[in-house]
Formats: sequence, C-alpha cells, structure tokens
Amino acid sequence: MSPDAPIRSMIEVKGLCKTFNGVHVLRNLDATINKGEIVSIVGPSGAGKSTFLRCLNLLETPDDGHIYVDGVDVDKMDVRKLRMKMGMVFQQFNLFPHLSALENIMLAPTSLRKTPKAEAKEQALELLDKVGLSGKAWAFPWELSGGQQQRVAIARTLAMNPEIILFDEPTSALDPTMVNEVLGVIRSLADEAGMTMAIVTHEMRFAREVSDRVFYMDQGVVYEEGSPEQIFDRPKRDRTRAFIRRVDTVRFEINEDDFDFYRFDAQLDDFAMKHLLEPERRQLLIDVCEELFDNFFFTFVHQLSFALGITEKREVELRFTYGGPEVNPMVDDSGASLFARAIIKKNASEVDFERVGDENVLELVIPNVKTV
Ligand SMILES: Nc1ncnc2c1ncn2[C@@H]1O[C@H](COP(=O)(O)OP(=O)(O)OP(=O)(O)O)[C@@H](O)[C@H]1O
Ligand SMILES: [Mg+2]
Repeated sequence: MSPDAPIRSMIEVKGLCKTFNGVHVLRNLDATINKGEIVSIVGPSGAGKSTFLRCLNLLETPDDGHIYVDGVDVDKMDVRKLRMKMGMVFQQFNLFPHLSALENIMLAPTSLRKTPKAEAKEQALELLDKVGLSGKAWAFPWELSGGQQQRVAIARTLAMNPEIILFDEPTSALDPTMVNEVLGVIRSLADEAGMTMAIVTHEMRFAREVSDRVFYMDQGVVYEEGSPEQIFDRPKRDRTRAFIRRVDTVRFEINEDDFDFYRFDAQLDDFAMKHLLEPERRQLLIDVCEELFDNFFFTFVHQLSFALGITEKREVELRFTYGGPEVNPMVDDSGASLFARAIIKKNASEVDFERVGDENVLELVIPNVKTV
C-alpha cells in the first residue's frame, strides 16, 4: 500500500453469526480489511477461522450479519462475480487429477471468463513462471510434490486476476521441507502492490513478517487485532497472551531442586512432534540440553529459564536465561564441559551470548538438517 493512498475498506464484516447444529461458531464477528492490506488470522483450532473465510466468499451462508466487499453487500452480489474478485487457496490443493498444471490453471479463465485459449495459455505460462514452476507446465498433479501442487493451486487462483485472496492454512498439509517454497510465493504476492490478502496460518514467524495486521480469533470473534509486534510481542488480552506463548515457544522455568528430566524430555518430545522435527534433531536437542544442564546450569547457575522455539525456516531456537554473575558456557574457563561446547559448536549455526541487565542470555540455533 502506498503511504498516501486513501485507506479504503475492501472487506467489512458486521455482526457475522454462523451456527452449525445449534453450536455458535461465529458470534457477532466484526472485522475490517483494507484495500491492499495483508492480514494474518491466527488462533486455536475450532476458533472459527475457516468458517470466517468460507463465509466471506459465500462457501457458507451466514445466519446473520453483513459482509461488504468493496462497498457492496455480498447478499446483493452475484456469487460468480464475487468469486472472481475473491480467490481462495485451501489447505488441500484440490487440483484436477486428470489435467496438467497448465490445464488446471487455464480452466477457470477459459470456462468462466471466456478468455480465448491462446491468451489463457500465455497467462498460465507466465503464472507458472511466477510461482517458480515454468518447467512443470505439462506435469500432472501426481507427478508434483505437495509444495509444487500448492504453487500450481496459487497460480490457478491468480489466473482469475482476483483483487483479494483468502488463504486457509496453505502450508499445513505439506511436508515441512516444502513449507518455505510456498510461503516464499505468498510472500512475493504480498509484496506486490494492490493485492488484499487474508491468511489463516499457524506459521507465526511468517505471519509476523508478512502481515500488516494480525487478527487473533478465539471463540468465534476477532478477540484481538493489532500490528504483528503488538499481537506477538505485546498482546493485551489474556487469551491472546496465553495462545502466543503456547504456540511459539515452549518455556520452562527450571530450578535444580525440583527438576524432573522425564517431564522435560516429554515436553521436548511434544515440541518435536508438533513441529515434525526429524529424529536426529530431536536427539540433538536432548543431547545439548542434557550436557548443558548436567555440566553447567545445575552446577554454576540459578534461576534458569529456557525457551524453545521454531523459526519459519524450521530452525530450532534455544534460549537460556539465567541470573548470577556473567558467565558464558562457551568460554573455556566457564565450567561447562568441553563436550558440551564441542557438540554445540558442531551442531549450532548460531551461538550468541549476551549480558542483559543482570541476566545472562545464551541463544543457540540448530539449523534445519534438510537444508544444511
Ligand atoms: N460444515 C460444518 N458442519 C458442522 N460443524 C462445523 C462445520 N464447519 C465447521 N464446524 C465446526 O465449527 C467450529 C469451528 O470450525 P472452523 O473450521 O471454522 O475452525 P478453525 O478455527 O478453522 O479451526 P482449525 O484451526 O482446526 O482449522 C468447529 O467446532 C467445527 O467443528
Ligand atoms: Mg480451519
């Protein structure tokens, strides 16, 4: 969005209600998305995120409330016109299995828009190039990886020249190694001027980087909204705070006396499962933690807190914060074992030590094994 363009709402939602079998899934939801704005929608499972997107482009019929798209009440709009203006990309790519990538992309323009075949083909080839698949025009869906299929699905949506694109968890059906290629395509679309996008995602780092605004949805409403910094770093409301803490990192407050390594290990395992970490990296996490705890933290420091997070590039970030005098375990005479330092040096792509106030902060990054 250019800074001096007048702000115009592209999507305006007032009092949206939707029930399924008597269960209130959307409860008087109000929201505005401006023209050219990129909004990420995050929130717990069952919050109503998909239902919200599906109501926007009338895949679901709202029970009550109003949706205005570019100033027009969608009740008064022709559904086909609405769908041309507003494309949607789903978690499952839903490509036609009997059509090549190129034909999948050409289908809607030729059948709905009546675009001449040659023109549609030229455009489809350009779009394939844009999503990094110029060599795959004639490949069938079964010949493509999940990431490639999702990029074809994005190109297919773009082929209708939509002004708005809704994404519903576009990367959650993908093998972790393919998440970045798809996020990269979405990011480059977001960088283009003019496109309005609403993206439901569990990729918090991506949401932080790509969005103008973030909606945190909970129990059928937009419970809190704000800039990415506001939502991720300084959430104002309790449930937002609890959610952000839970998804982004695992935190442990550890003190030697009641430390239960089995419980800790189980939580590491949950984290590894949730983020689909490879067994090698799970083991490495345990090794690094055990070494540091046994030989350093338990002997030399007190009041340790430990946070574990995952970045969009699927690196694992470990952050140890502890009080006491300045002591960096990576330094020779710190008391940490040689072995601890050796496995960290061998496996971490970044090791940062910093003194912040009267605390020590050690950050380690363990890279994605598939990309090293
Ligand atoms: N077609 C449907 N029929 C009955 N119940 C539905 C239907 N669609 C959604 N629901 C229910 O509505 C609630 C909200 O679902 P929705 O899919 O919108 O949540 P969500 O925030 O997208 O969750 P997730 O993060 O798991 O995708 C859930 O309890 C779900 O079971
Ligand atoms: Mg959903």
